[in-house]
Amino acid sequence: MAVIEVVVGDITRENVDAVVTAANESLLGGGGVDGAVHRAAGPRLARAGAAIAPCAAGDAVATPAFDLDPPVRHVIHTVGPVWAGGGQGEADVLASCYRRVLQVADGIGARTVAVPAIATGVYGFPPEQAARIAVATVRSTPTAVEVVRLVAFDEETRGWLRAALTTSD
Ligand code: APR
Repeated sequence: MAVIEVVVGDITRENVDAVVTAANESLLGGGGVDGAVHRAAGPRLARAGAAIAPCAAGDAVATPAFDLDPPVRHVIHTVGPVWAGGGQGEADVLASCYRRVLQVADGIGARTVAVPAIATGVYGFPPEQAARIAVATVRSTPTAVEVVRLVAFDEETRGWLRAALTTSD
């Protein structure tokens, strides 16, 4: 089981093997964390994404990290669910994002992975519930990843992630 860390910061500054971005199905980039990752990785990231798009909600795919500073070698793109009130299976799709991220990380041999609060921005997923899903899914997914660093962009999200960590299964 991976060790779970919670930090606050800009995910593009994390020194890990793979940085996860909260993408959309086109993998062409967008706003939020996806915008930040694409800006840091450079235009080749969108070209690599376009070559393997679409990525379905709940799935994840890896590309090189291009201009991201070392040691980041990979970007793992995952597409979260758009929050529609909670009755459309959004929680299962979000859990699938975290599970697929770990599976893709295993496939590329990444041992340290930084993950943003997927779907809790533009896609509107409630951050407290999303934090619980993130922690529970990482804890329950067999993986060779040694460290999963959950990167919050604000104190509120960090609080929810920390609270989720202290909640036993
Ligand atoms: N580092 C870490 N986290 C960040 C950063 C950053 N540089 N920038 C934003 N975030 C946080 C947001 O504050 C939020 O908590 O990432 C979380 C996810 O929010 P979004 O980036 O809006 O992602 P999401 O809700 O999954 O929406 C995805 O938005 O940017 C587009 O192309 C993307 O269409 C897709 C949609």
